[in-house]
Amino acid sequence: MTDELSRNERIKEASNYLRGTLADGLREEITGAIIEDDAQLVKFHGMYLQDDRDLRPERTRKKMEKAFSFMIRVRIPGGVLSPRQWLALDEVARVYGNGTMRLTTRQTVQLHGVIKSNLKATLKTIDEVLLNSIAACGDINRNVMCNVLPEQSRAHAAAIDMARTISDDLLPHTPAYREIWLDGERIAGGEEEVVEPIYGKTYLPRKFKIVVAVPPSNDVDVFAHDLGYIAIVDGAGDVVGWNVTVGGGMGMTHGEPDTYPRTADIIGFCQTTDAVKIAEAVVTVQRDWGDRKNRKHARLKYTIEDRGLDNFRAEVEKRSGVKLARAKSYTFTSTGDRYGWTEGADGRGHLTLFVQNGRVHDVDGASQQTALRTIAQVHYGDFRITPNQNLVIANVPTSQQAEIERIAREAGLLAPWSGLRRNSMACVALPTCGLALAESERYLPELVDALDQKLAAHGLSADDIVIRMTGCPNGCARPYLAEIGLVGKGPGRYNLYLGAAFDGSRMNKLYAEDLDHAGIVAALDPLFAAYAKERQKGERFGDYAIRSGAIAASGNGTDFHANVRAYKPK
Ligand code: HEM
Ligand code: SF4
Repeated sequence: MTDELSRNERIKEASNYLRGTLADGLREEITGAIIEDDAQLVKFHGMYLQDDRDLRPERTRKKMEKAFSFMIRVRIPGGVLSPRQWLALDEVARVYGNGTMRLTTRQTVQLHGVIKSNLKATLKTIDEVLLNSIAACGDINRNVMCNVLPEQSRAHAAAIDMARTISDDLLPHTPAYREIWLDGERIAGGEEEVVEPIYGKTYLPRKFKIVVAVPPSNDVDVFAHDLGYIAIVDGAGDVVGWNVTVGGGMGMTHGEPDTYPRTADIIGFCQTTDAVKIAEAVVTVQRDWGDRKNRKHARLKYTIEDRGLDNFRAEVEKRSGVKLARAKSYTFTSTGDRYGWTEGADGRGHLTLFVQNGRVHDVDGASQQTALRTIAQVHYGDFRITPNQNLVIANVPTSQQAEIERIAREAGLLAPWSGLRRNSMACVALPTCGLALAESERYLPELVDALDQKLAAHGLSADDIVIRMTGCPNGCARPYLAEIGLVGKGPGRYNLYLGAAFDGSRMNKLYAEDLDHAGIVAALDPLFAAYAKERQKGERFGDYAIRSGAIAASGNGTDFHANVRAYKPK
C-alpha cells in the first residue's frame, strides 16, 4: 500500500479543470491517439481512447500504429430520447462511427470507432439536438438512470424528474467541454472563474453512479449503484418519497479478494424536496472520505465498508441537514423488461422491443437499425433505452400502433425469444474494450443457443432465467446480480457464478472457474434438469440453486468470496 496519491489524482489536479492538453492533442495529425494523461481526462468528456483489438496482431506485424479510435458515450438521463435525437445518433453512428449504435446497460448510447479527426463533428452534431457526452465516463457522477415503466405514468414522471434534476445538479461546472469540442469561448479571467462547488479541482476518487427505481420493477438494478432512490408510491399512484440506498458497485479483480462487488444498503427514507440535498451530501462525503491512493479501493462501497454504515449515514445527515426517516416497505419483483405492448393511464401504448445485447445494426437479414430509423421518422412519442439494453417505443397513439408494430416485427425486434434470451445481457468486450479478457457480446448469443437446447429438453424454454456475461471482472453488465453470471477469465474461458435473486436483491457466488463453452454447458445442464424436476411452485432458478445446496447464499461485502465450494467439472 502506498501513501502517495494515485497517478489519476495528479492528472486531475494538473488538468486545469479537465482541459489538460486535449485541444492541442486533437490537432496533432501524426497519431490517431492522444497522450496518456489526456486519455484519462477525455473520459470526463464521455470518451475512451480504444483500438481495434482484432487488428492488433496484423498491425503489429506490419509495424503500424494500433487502429486507434474513440468510443463516445452520450449522457441520456433515464434513457429518454426524442425521435429527432434518435435520428441524430443514428446518423453520427453511420457517418462518423462504425455504423452501429450500442444501447448500454446504463441507459445510454455508445458510438464506437470514431476517429480523432471526427470527434468534434460528432459532438457538434449531437449538440444540435441538445445531447452531449459530458461526464458520461470519468471520476464523477455519470448518467443518472431511471425506471422505464411508462404505464405507471405519474410515478414515472416523478422519477424521471428526479433523475434529471439530480443529473443537472451534479454536472461539472467547468466549461472545458464546450471550449474543446464545440469551439466555445475561453472564459476570460482563467481558472479563478471556474468553480466546482461540489467536486473541487480533483473531482471524485472514482466513478459515481446514481439510479432511480419505481417498484415493483427493479429494472435499474438499484443495489448495483453507488446511490439509489426507491420510489414509495401510494395507493393513488403518487410518489410520497424515497428510500435511499448507498454503496453498491460491481467491479472487482480476479484473484484479489480485497476487491469485491457489493449490493447497496438502504439508509432511510427522504422526502422528494430533500432528495437533491441527500445526493450532494453523499457525493461530497465520498469526495472527502474516498480513497485517492488506491483506485481499486476507491468506490463508495469500500468507503462504507471501511468507515461503517452508521457513521456514513450520520455524516450524510449532518451535511445535508436532513434527518432520514425509517425506510418504508416496498416490493420488487424482477429486474427484467416487460416486452410487447403495455398501456399507459392516458391510453397511449408503449412497445418494448428486444435488442440483443443492445447492438443496433443491420445484419443477418434483420434490418433493425433501418427499422428503428423508420419508426423514428413516423413516431411522435419518445424512445426509452431500458437498463437491460432494450428499447421502448413510448407514448404511441392508437392510430399508429399497428404500423409501428409491423415495422418492429418485420425486423425481428418482437420475435418469440426463450425465457433465457429475454433475460440476457452482455457487455461490449472485444474488439473495442481494452480491458476485455474474453469475448462477451459476440459470444453470448451462441452460448444461449446451446443452453436453450438444454432448457427445451427439460421443458424450461419459457421460464425467465437471468443470464449475464462480461469479458472481464469489472462487471459492466452487472453479472454478479444474475442468476447465471459469466465473467471472462482469458480467451474462451469464464468463471461461472450462481444463486443471485431474480429481483436483484442478492448477489451470486462463484460456482466454477475457468470453464470453456463445453464446460459451461456441462456445468449447467444437470442443474437445469434438477430444477425442472425439484423446483417448488414459483421458485426461481437462483433461489433453487441455493436451496438445493449447489451454492451458498451470498451475503454482502467480503462475504462474496466466502463459502465458495469449488465445483469440479467431470
Ligand atoms: C473498474 C470498473 C470498470 C471499468 C474500468 C469499466 C470500463 C469500461 C470500458 C472501457 C467500457 C467501454 C467498452 C466498449 O464500449 O468498448 C465500458 C463500458 C460500459 N460499462 Fe464499464 N467499466 C467498469 C465497471 C462498470 C460497471 C460496474 C458498470 C455498471 C454497473 C459499467 C457500465 C458500463 C456500461 C453501461 C458500458 C457500456 C457498454 C455496455 O452496455 O456493456 N461499467 N466500461
Ligand atoms: S466488463 Fe470488462 S470487458 Fe466488459 S466492457 Fe466492461 S471493462 Fe470491458
